Amino acid sequence: MSGSGTVKILGISGSLRRASFNAATLRTAQELAPEGMTIDIFDITPIPLYNEDVRAQGFPPPVEDLRARIKAADGLLIVTPEYNYSIPGVLKNAIDWASRPPEQPFDGKPIGIMGASAGVMGTGRAQYHLRQCFVFLNGMVMNRPEVMIPAAQNKFDAGGKLTDQATKDFMVAHLTAFKAWVLRMRQPAT
Ligand SMILES: Cc1cc2nc3c(=O)[nH]c(=O)nc-3n(C[C@H](O)[C@H](O)[C@H](O)COP(=O)(O)O)c2cc1C
Repeated sequence: MSGSGTVKILGISGSLRRASFNAATLRTAQELAPEGMTIDIFDITPIPLYNEDVRAQGFPPPVEDLRARIKAADGLLIVTPEYNYSIPGVLKNAIDWASRPPEQPFDGKPIGIMGASAGVMGTGRAQYHLRQCFVFLNGMVMNRPEVMIPAAQNKFDAGGKLTDQATKDFMVAHLTAFKAWVLRMRQPAT
């Protein structure tokens, strides 16, 4: 964890697609992060499909890496697509792997959620499913402001740059509130 006043965030995109709007949103979040906040990105592509027989032999290296990076981060920023009104299987799979004992790393971890979709709901339904996953895991998901980006295909240029100023403004408001949320959740040093 980082020292007082600065926050180190681990960012995860729930899409593996090269031209993903959600991965592009995460990269935009890196650019828009307020002073004193850094966002590193973890790529979940190498995470294998969950198999309890495999886990019984030990966490595969990409899962170990994910767990260690979640533990080391002051907070998580998850940017998710909506698949069939829920979160993509690859994202749920990564969360399931990381959540296994011992010392599941989401416990008490501040979490911010954003999402971009082609539809008009801007991943709202997926985001509420994602929140539900963190109830049992005791993740400290920030309630608001929410960032739901509808019709994403109209808000990014061909190079994956976010061009919509209103969306940038929503993201800045979220990131600013998230920094305060992370600092508020920080346990006093013992
Ligand atoms: C399997 C699948 C299911 C989808 N379901 C939804 C959905 O429920 N709601 C929605 O708005 N878009 C849905 N879409 C469209 C996605 O919003 C769109 O593909 C988006 O670009 C995915 O995010 P990405 O660009 O980060 O990969 C779905 C796409 C796929 C591939």
